[in-house]
This record gives sequence, structure tokens and C-alpha cells, in this order.
Amino acid sequence: MLVTLEGIDGSGKSSLHEALRELLSDLNPVFTREPGATWVGDQVRRAIKEQIDPVTEATLFVADHAAHLAKVVRPALAEGRLVISDRYSDSRFAYQSVTLQGIVPDPEGWMRAMHNGWTIVPDKTFLCVLPVDAALTRLKPDTEREHFEKRETLEKVQNNYLEYARRDPGRFVIVDAMLDRQIVAKFVADAIRTEYALGKKKKGHRKK
Ligand code: TYD
Repeated sequence: MLVTLEGIDGSGKSSLHEALRELLSDLNPVFTREPGATWVGDQVRRAIKEQIDPVTEATLFVADHAAHLAKVVRPALAEGRLVISDRYSDSRFAYQSVTLQGIVPDPEGWMRAMHNGWTIVPDKTFLCVLPVDAALTRLKPDTEREHFEKRETLEKVQNNYLEYARRDPGRFVIVDAMLDRQIVAKFVADAIRTEYALGKKKKGHRKK
């Protein structure tokens, strides 16, 4: 089963990912992330830092995803493991729809077309949502922020995420990121546990 954690910068999804390591350790999940599960991620970080060019950056994120799928996600799923990824394809759809605006004709459509037919769609996606102001207070000072971490960008990115959740309520679970971190982590851990048990049951039935 593939579970992804999504949300704007400062939404707390990385600390949620950390907390799940402990809460779900008995299920022995594979914890992974985008960008950065393979060496391609180093190139992505460099592109972000140098602000090289939005199309270069976007295609590197896709390259990172391809390597992530090939080297981490597919092998783990083939072994029947639970995979929990901090960011995944929806980050591309939500962020690159903003960064490629005015550069390519239909950024979201282009990004989706680049994934369609070969990517693996997550079984569940937990979307951490909070007011952008609250997210900004959790980030580094202005001068040290990545170019994504601006108010206008994050507002648009979060609206994109919310639109995807509205379109696909069966996959997305919206999490109130303003709640106490331990409560959020417990809620998400319990929800993953339930889904994982249901998934196993379904597979068992199919085998019979
Ligand atoms: P991330 O590693 O989650 O942030 P941090 O460095 O704070 O741990 O992601 C780095 C940035 O890249 C983040 O601002 C979101 C952005 N991003 C995209 O724009 N598109 C993508 O496909 C992904 C995976 C991340």
C-alpha cells in the first residue's frame, strides 16, 4: 500500500512523517520522500537553490520521481510493504502548476501527462492544511527561504491541493495541521493502520 503526505511548506508533514516512524514501527513501513530518495534528488536541490529555470526544475522533479519509483517504491510494493512518502506526485501538480504559469500553456495538464500511464497513484494521501500565515511563521526567515516559500505561491499551492482533494475525496484525507502534533500523528497512524488492514483483507479474498 502506498501512502503519501502532502501539504505546503511549514504544514508539518515532515515531522508527521518522523512521528509515524515510531507509531507504525510494528508494520515495518518503508519511509521515503520526494525529492531525494536517490542521487537525482541532489540535482533537484541544486536546481532549486540556483533557481536555474522553472522547466529544468520541473523536469528534474519528474526525473526524481521516476528514479524514486524504480529504485524504492516499486520494489517495496512488490514485496507487499507499506510505503509512506513525504511528498509525491501531488506536489508536482500543486507546485509546478504555479511555477510554470505563463511558461508552458497548461502547466497542470502538462505535469499530469508526464505522469499518466506509468506512475503509481497513491492509495491514500493525507493533506496537511493550515492558514498560510501560520505556515509562514514555522518557516525560516524570509532571506533564507526557497523560492517556493512565498505567501502568494503557498496560497496558490494550497488552493491547488484543496481542489485535488475535492476532486478525489476517496483518496485524500484532509488533516487539520493546526491541531496538536501528537494528535495529528495519532489520527494519521490509526487511519493508515485501518486502511492497511482492509487492504490485506481484500487481497486475501482475491486469492481465494
Ligand atoms: P521538501 O524537501 O519537502 O522541503 P524541505 O526542503 O523544506 O524539506 O521540498 C522542497 C521544495 O520542493 C518544497 O518547497 C516543495 C517543492 N517541490 C515541488 O515544487 N515539486 C515537487 O514535485 C516536489 C516533490 C517538491
